[in-house]
Amino acid sequence: MTEQPSLFFGAGDSPAVILGKYANRHGLITGATGTGKTVTLQVLAEGFSRMGVPVFLADVKGDLSGLAVASDPSKGIQKRVDTLELNDYRHEASPVVFWDLYQKSGHPLRTTISEIGPQLLARMLNLNETQEGVLNVAFSVADEEGLLLLDYKDLHALLNFTGKNRQQISIEYGRVTTASIGAIQRKLLVLKNARGDQLFAEPALSLSDLMRRDENGRGIINLLDARELIQNPRLYSTFLLWLLAELFEDLPEVGDQDTPELVFFFDEAHLLFDDASTSFQDQIERVVRLIRSKGVGIYFVTQNPQDIPDEVLGQLGNRVQHALRAFTPKDQKALRLVAETFVQNPDLDIRDTLTSMGVGEALVSTLIGKGIPSMADHCLICPPRSRMGPIDEATRSAVRANSPISDVYDHTIDRDSAYERLQARAARRAQQEAEDKPPPTSRSGSGSSTRTRSGRARKSEWEKAAGSIARSAAQSFGKSLLRGILGALRGKR
Ligand SMILES: Nc1ncnc2c1ncn2[C@@H]1O[C@H](COP(=O)(O)OP(=O)(O)OP(=O)(O)O)[C@@H](O)[C@H]1O
Ligand SMILES: [Mg+2]
Repeated sequence: MTEQPSLFFGAGDSPAVILGKYANRHGLITGATGTGKTVTLQVLAEGFSRMGVPVFLADVKGDLSGLAVASDPSKGIQKRVDTLELNDYRHEASPVVFWDLYQKSGHPLRTTISEIGPQLLARMLNLNETQEGVLNVAFSVADEEGLLLLDYKDLHALLNFTGKNRQQISIEYGRVTTASIGAIQRKLLVLKNARGDQLFAEPALSLSDLMRRDENGRGIINLLDARELIQNPRLYSTFLLWLLAELFEDLPEVGDQDTPELVFFFDEAHLLFDDASTSFQDQIERVVRLIRSKGVGIYFVTQNPQDIPDEVLGQLGNRVQHALRAFTPKDQKALRLVAETFVQNPDLDIRDTLTSMGVGEALVSTLIGKGIPSMADHCLICPPRSRMGPIDEATRSAVRANSPISDVYDHTIDRDSAYERLQARAARRAQQEAEDKPPPTSRSGSGSSTRTRSGRARKSEWEKAAGSIARSAAQSFGKSLLRGILGALRGKR
């Protein structure tokens, strides 16, 4: 029998190991600030990469960019190597592709307005229920009209259009008011001012580009520079959730495998759950539960396990708990609760260990045997093979220059979409109106014909808008416009 792929990342009484076949049963890395979470993440990312598993991770502080270069020999590293008797330890870089929504320090990672869908967009923009309803209406209008929603100006133009034609639209789809359109436009402007509009453009990300291997079969580590993105926590968390939902939707069912298709690290995971509505939490819980069968493992990183709702926590099989602080009675209570979630070890006082562990040590419990959690073990975590801490811009540029996908993503495309279509339409209408105008000398302008004319003019404006653009276009992408990424999950409960 061939040996099962596994990731060795430290040791206590027993080796700390994540089994490849259970790596899609998700994980959790927690601990107070400065206790070693990021380095643990780094060690796991390197290990998955060596196992041939591509990795996606958001680098919130910039200190994970060190993955791209080999570690420097140091006494600290050598001591861990000796203690853990790591005979195969090498100073080595991992294959890294840098991404950056803001296009400064990596390939732009972008998507379109229609791919994000109204539901996540509403969360990104922090819309209230009424405003979200209006946004949904606007998406329906775009769908009906065959208007492609790609970038910021498409959405802006669509909202203007919806506002202008609100009377007719309200009859067909539900109430649209100028106040709610105005409120959405203002929130959209806030997003733009925070440069969030940069997310929406083409070429949109193709998921297969996150799932590459290098020429040696090592999984590529996709590192999203989230230093600026994290300044806008809603955008950060919604964007990552969108990415998960996309993976869920697009990847095929794979059943049990020796290794996952992709491992996704979600740093600062508490942001995902901060002020999330119950229904939104339910949807996250569902994505986490179901994405497993697509071969994707999600590893949440946060300070305290209690940052994560119980329903989600219950699904995180592989756990690395660094030291916790227990200064206040509230901390003490939290500590007790955390201790209770581990499989007790008769030789270990878990509560005591939780507060006394050193940096780069952790209580580890992973799925073993038939997929049951191992007994909590106090482990020393391996040193990373790559550098701890950030790399300089010159090194980053060099890595980026060698990237296999720079040709694909580094140039923006601006296709004809809603904005251009609506502009062209307005221009045509203005011309038509000029042509339709009766000559000033005409005497036939009776009251009744004026009424008819103005009545028809109002209607024809809507008719033209609603009917003139090829419906076939609407059919081809309409479904994706309306589905609402997470809404698509509804039927799959
Ligand atoms: N496994 C390890 N091997 C060697 N050194 C480590 C290890 N883990 C942590 N360290 C040392 O501890 C320092 C702090 O660790 P790290 O940055 O991972 O903490 P953190 O929990 O992510 O902190 P923060 O919450 O502030 O982000 C590292 O810079 C490194 O020097
Ligand atoms: Mg950290």
